[in-house]
Amino acid sequence: MIIKIPRHNPAYSGLIAKLFNLKPGDLFLDLTLGDGGHTQEALQAGAKVVSFDIDPESIERAKQFIPQNLQKNWTVVNSNMTKVSEEVNTNFNAILIDLGPSQYQVLAPSRGFSFHSSADLDMRLDKNLGVTAKDLLAALGQKELEQIFNLADEPRARQIAKEIVTSRKISPITTGQQLANLVVKIKGRYKNTHPATQVFLGLRMAVNLEREVILETLPQLPELLETGGILGVISFHSGEDRLVKQFGKQQETLSVIYKKPLKPLAEEINNNPRVRSASLRLYTKK
Ligand SMILES: C[S@@+](CC[C@H](N)C(=O)[O-])C[C@H]1O[C@@H](n2cnc3c(N)ncnc32)[C@H](O)[C@@H]1O
Repeated sequence: MIIKIPRHNPAYSGLIAKLFNLKPGDLFLDLTLGDGGHTQEALQAGAKVVSFDIDPESIERAKQFIPQNLQKNWTVVNSNMTKVSEEVNTNFNAILIDLGPSQYQVLAPSRGFSFHSSADLDMRLDKNLGVTAKDLLAALGQKELEQIFNLADEPRARQIAKEIVTSRKISPITTGQQLANLVVKIKGRYKNTHPATQVFLGLRMAVNLEREVILETLPQLPELLETGGILGVISFHSGEDRLVKQFGKQQETLSVIYKKPLKPLAEEINNNPRVRSASLRLYTKK
């Protein structure tokens, strides 16, 4: 079942060796393994790779996707990236973070991310986290819900938060379908992106403490880079990208490689529209 959902096609696919200037024998740290596409590219370039993922299901899938002959140069760590300094004891030539969930996590009904699912809204990337999206919808006050949706740039945050609080008094909101219908009722029908995209994004960020993870992890990374090594962070939302940009400005030991974040090429977006909102910031260690 776990392998039936197609492999995640990551942003900047096919470009990892070039972007990170990888040479055989280099050490590459992938802090977000997912389905292992980026890790595989680094292994194919001859790098030795250490990959982190907080989600054991992602690790199981990546082990099935990455060809056996490449796995001898690969070490997997099932841990939160916030623990990176404790878990590794070497320096790397390149470090990559590809934020957000994988397509597997979004599409697997059991993970509770989907607009269309009648399963409980869960959204935890790490099953050890105590609080699910369903719990937040039941417990948070209107102001707190509004704040969560604002962080995901939802323009109708206040109205949606109010409607959630009113409607849960009549019956609890537990599924993706119920929440998506509530948002459609307020925002109306849609063309390209589902109107509940930002609401779901806000909940996902809150459940997985995603802003906190970025703020805690990034400052650990310059010390783990070799001089001349490259750090790359892929984000899919302006709020995340802002945190990365601010971090880059504060770091005296890092230089920015491109002033503006790199966007995927039109050809990649045509083949894989999901990556249209991706931004990649690259830094090198002085
Ligand atoms: C966008 S996917 C990565 C896709 C991957 N680059 C590929 O090529 O398939 C992000 C992955 O990071 C993992 N992740 C998210 N937050 C994490 C955290 N705090 N620590 C470790 N892994 C995390 C998720 O479980 C997910 O598998």
